[in-house]
Amino acid sequence: MALSGVRIAGAARYAPARVVTNEDFERWLETTDEWITVRTGMKRRHWAADDEATSDFALEAAKRALEQARLRPQDVDCFIVATVTPDYAFPATACIVAAKLGAVGKAAFDIGIACSGFIYGLTVAAGLVRSGVYRRVLLVGAETLSKIVNKDDRSTAILFGDGAGAVVLEAAERDCFLASELGADGSVPQLLFQQAGGSRCPVSHASIDRGLQYIQMEGREVFKFAVTSMISATDVALARAGLTRHEIDFLIPHQANRRIIDAAVKYLELPRERVLVNLAEYGNTSAASIPIALAEAVEANRIGDNDVVLMVGFGAGLSWGAVVWRWSALR
Ligand code: UT7
Repeated sequence: MALSGVRIAGAARYAPARVVTNEDFERWLETTDEWITVRTGMKRRHWAADDEATSDFALEAAKRALEQARLRPQDVDCFIVATVTPDYAFPATACIVAAKLGAVGKAAFDIGIACSGFIYGLTVAAGLVRSGVYRRVLLVGAETLSKIVNKDDRSTAILFGDGAGAVVLEAAERDCFLASELGADGSVPQLLFQQAGGSRCPVSHASIDRGLQYIQMEGREVFKFAVTSMISATDVALARAGLTRHEIDFLIPHQANRRIIDAAVKYLELPRERVLVNLAEYGNTSAASIPIALAEAVEANRIGDNDVVLMVGFGAGLSWGAVVWRWSALR
């Protein structure tokens, strides 16, 4: 019998060994542990070593997710990596990850929609499985943001971290994908972008002299957008699923700032214990932040069979997205 549903069969995470604390920044930036803690909620973040790149983290998270799902890489039909810090501008990091896993010949592609990447990826991956195109899809959110952040810019350096979270999706009788809401407004890309390295501003000595290879962000503008988009994406996705806010068992928001999460959660009137927050440990890992938080909750057995999990992301684009998922216990 053809299976028309989809479930998550494994969820795992990986972060590089090197940890950078708020106190570490005090050594070279005009900042304090207190400022960072109060304004962001962050305490630590993991940063890649010089010889580490995004596919290394994606690979580790993918291996662990496959192990949890009791599957071999060859059992996967399609590999997707959501990232804005690929190993190279091209080829896609997903091709490299699939090859390192020994799954040459399978479909592999990247999704580059920044902090909304995992939500877009989950929607696409679930669609591929539910429509019968593929039986199993491996989706990884993975970033090495430390390599594109200006470490001498206190307004961005403290925010970003590296890591990866992976899920294995597989066809199932019961459908765990309940609804999705995706959106974008690219009218002001400069609000949050990496200016140099694309076709509008190729890397050159001049662009490097101006530091255009680094993340630039209008923090306050993005903050306001983040709160409103988190609320509206949550409400739209819930309505599409035919559920109310009270039926959310766990909210997993993109981990950009504790104050953003608190403001949205207050408006949504969700009890604090239902909101998963781990940014004190990882900072903002863009497309990796939601799957890392999901994997941690799965490891800790916090999420149980039948729980409604709402995942919501927002970021560069500007872009946003929310997915409502009914959890199905791992085997
Ligand atoms: O994942 C993608 C989405 N990204 C986000 O959602 C990030 C959204 N934005 C934010 O999280 C916040 O805007 C920030 C954490 C980036 C900044 O917090 P803020 O409360 O909006 O601060 P601000 O930018 O308004 O800056 C306030 C002051 C400024 O000084 P003046 O101009 O008031 O004298 C900054 O220069 O804080 C200063 N400042 C710092 N001071 C100490 C900025 N960064 C630091 C720092 N340490 N690290």
